[in-house]
Amino acid sequence: MKSKDFLSISDLTSEGIRALISKAVAMKNEGWNSQLSQKILVLLFEKPSLRTRVSFEVAMRQLGGQSLYLSPEEVQLGKRESIPDAARVLSRYANVIAIRTFAQEKLEIFANNAGIPVINALSDLEHPCQALADMITIYEHKQTLEELTIAFIGDGNNTAHSLMLAAGLCGIDFRIASPKGYRVQDKILKTAQQYAAENQSTILSTEDPRQAITNADVVYTDVWASMGQEAEAKQRRKAFANYQVDSELLAMAKKDAILMHPLPAHHGEEVAENLIYCPQSVVFDQAENRMHAQKAILSDILGGLEITLPGYR
Ligand code: CP
Ligand code: NVA
Repeated sequence: MKSKDFLSISDLTSEGIRALISKAVAMKNEGWNSQLSQKILVLLFEKPSLRTRVSFEVAMRQLGGQSLYLSPEEVQLGKRESIPDAARVLSRYANVIAIRTFAQEKLEIFANNAGIPVINALSDLEHPCQALADMITIYEHKQTLEELTIAFIGDGNNTAHSLMLAAGLCGIDFRIASPKGYRVQDKILKTAQQYAAENQSTILSTEDPRQAITNADVVYTDVWASMGQEAEAKQRRKAFANYQVDSELLAMAKKDAILMHPLPAHHGEEVAENLIYCPQSVVFDQAENRMHAQKAILSDILGGLEITLPGYR
């Protein structure tokens, strides 16, 4: 049962992530079906969302299932009710649950007490659904996942962690440039480097944005202050002042490099004003692919395959 939880991109093997990318690309052309009729997805969110909430709800409807959303005000995980109790109760009503929360540990406690699969819809540590959508987007635009380099410029945050792990699993070179004090977590870096070594690629963490971006195929950035870090925004703007992706920095990547951002963007901070509307930007394809990625995940977790999913550890 636990093997069905999608709490980290590390819950997928290298073959598993490739299979999900192929499945999502295929499902993108297939449209609506009824494979998840009589299935219910609960979305339990402790942080705001536009893309994740809507793309999960639409994904579920397109597959013939239904979803319901519990807002941050309603949930109060671990306050109004213990996490194990909430997990046990929701397992009696729904077939799958997607949770957006702060500590990864909360997700793990929930999953350990739930009788249904649990999907990480973003935590402080990881954003695996985003990373899967990003890999689909890269594959679509580059027509391959071979011999590519992703440069991530900015905070070593949840998005960076999942993307770095996904790059290692897919055999993509990954270079991240972050200021001192804001680099990716060592443990996750080491895991990603181990995946990369198994898949003939490399992962580098540096403080130098130019080193990271030179000749990259994919340029990626994300907000400097994530949800829950609003009080640090001013201090972070100072620390990240030399890490804005602007047209000059982007020009150091390959001529046909694509620009990516998970959105929401803070225009004029991590990305220069209007840059996400330039021809190299694929950010709205990324947003669309959230839905296709999640259709593939939901279909694999619930679509009659039940527990035995190839590629799930
Ligand atoms: N990219 C992303 O997860 O967006 P939301 O926070 O709007 O869901
Ligand atoms: N790092 C951002 C991603 C939002 C999709 C955050 O956690 O707020």
